[in-house]
Amino acid sequence: MRSAAKMSRRNFLMTSGAATVWASGTAHGYTAAEMRVKAAGGDLTGVSKWDLDTPALCVDLDKLEQNIATMRKSLAVVKVASRPHAKTHKCPAIAKLQLAGGSIGICTAKISEAEVFSANGVEPILMTTSNVTPNKIRRAMAIRKANRQFIQAVDYPQNALDLNDAAKEAGISADIVIDVAVGTRSGVPAGDQAVALAKLVDKLPYLKLRGVISYDGSAQHIKGFKNRLDQTLKRFEPSIETLEKMQRAGLSTEIFSGGGTGTYNILPKAPGVTDLQVGSYIFMDCQYLEIGGESNDEVYTDFAPSLTVLATVLNTYFEKSITTDAGAKALTLNKPGPWVIGEKDFVYNAGSDEFGVIKYEKAERSYKVGDKLELIVPHCDPAVNEYDQLYAIRKDRVEAVWPIAARGHSQ
Ligand SMILES: Cc1ncc(COP(=O)(O)O)c(C=O)c1O
Repeated sequence: MRSAAKMSRRNFLMTSGAATVWASGTAHGYTAAEMRVKAAGGDLTGVSKWDLDTPALCVDLDKLEQNIATMRKSLAVVKVASRPHAKTHKCPAIAKLQLAGGSIGICTAKISEAEVFSANGVEPILMTTSNVTPNKIRRAMAIRKANRQFIQAVDYPQNALDLNDAAKEAGISADIVIDVAVGTRSGVPAGDQAVALAKLVDKLPYLKLRGVISYDGSAQHIKGFKNRLDQTLKRFEPSIETLEKMQRAGLSTEIFSGGGTGTYNILPKAPGVTDLQVGSYIFMDCQYLEIGGESNDEVYTDFAPSLTVLATVLNTYFEKSITTDAGAKALTLNKPGPWVIGEKDFVYNAGSDEFGVIKYEKAERSYKVGDKLELIVPHCDPAVNEYDQLYAIRKDRVEAVWPIAARGHSQ
């Protein structure tokens, strides 16, 4: 965690990386011939990240481990667990690091993601989106049959009835949480409707009620800590009242899960919360860095930006303009950022499919074709979904190459 000192985004970009731009043609430990041999054999371990073909999605392992430890330490104090959302990374290797780092399970958003994690040996999975079509319901129950730690969210009575039938057919009793809405995106409205659904699940013979999930997507990116704190706790009150009504009715509330990276130090102040579904904290991105934190209103520095995309300079002919090989397909979104580490005045436009175009008034150094730049992505989840693999980097060298096994699994 950084110090409480105020730090502008511009200063942050100048201090969040070591040397960030490397001249083309420089040897970084391996000769070009050695690099060809390593790449042909598919083994890139030990290679400098600056020698990777780009666009390359990289995670800095020291920062990733620091983020996992920061979350663990912070939540231990308030006796709340973490159940990280794996839709952020889609990568079994990272899920296993999170579990080893004290998380009680993971969440998934899509049934195809849940299948990948379950097949890769990650068992405690809570699926936060409801599955409403017959085939997806069957797939969910097939996961539960193979994996006793799979939990499914429900927000409609008919869906509970359909799940009960599918669980009976699969010969299992399925673990269920009620998704209680905060806002209008998903979930059953808080209050009597939610309690009635919980009672229905509780009485269906092939379902087992485990509690409640209640995630507030709109709260996570509210700018300014005080504002975020006040609004989050206010918006969460109906969920707490619903949980308390369920408790008075004698229903299971063993799980009361919610929250995200923007509210990890806020939601534990609400009574009864058992675990947080934090996702982006492991990677961070421009959207999150911009919201400001408790100790620094300008930049959210509680977690380190571990995820970067390396890009190569393709064109410098034009005045105050640089073209790179990382456009929309490498970075997906175009605002806020992408930010170029080590350059505080660059305005990066990733609007073109295959190219990024940087405009600037002042650069910290000169650039030539073949130079590499390191970028913080606007939003981590969709960017990760664009890549087959994640280069796990320690001290600028590749330590491992992790398959992003659930990438593209959007169903
Ligand atoms: C249901 C649910 N839980 C948790 C998260 C994780 O949020 P964050 O990445 O902001 O930590 C998300 C993200 O959109 C989500 O949809």
